[in-house]
Amino acid sequence: MYVCLCKGVTDTRVREAVQQGAHSMAALRAELGVCTECKKCAVSINGVLRDTLMAAPVVAAPLCLPECHTSV
Ligand code: FES
Repeated sequence: MYVCLCKGVTDTRVREAVQQGAHSMAALRAELGVCTECKKCAVSINGVLRDTLMAAPVVAAPLCLPECHTSV
C-alpha cells in the first residue's frame, strides 16, 4: 500500500528501509524522500516505523568479562 503518495513509497519499502538501518523519521526522509513535500504521510510513516522497530528481534548485548577492564 502506498503510504507516501508524493514520492510513491509503499509501506513495504519503508519496512525494508527500517530493517536496513533507517531507525528514525529523519533517516527515512533522507533515504526515501518521504515527508518532504505535503507531509500528510507523517502519521502513517511513523506508524510503520514504530511497528517495524517493535517487531524487530532483540539482539543481546555481548557479555563484558572482567578481562575487558584490565589495562594492557
Ligand atoms: Fe508524503 Fe506528501 S504524501 S510528502
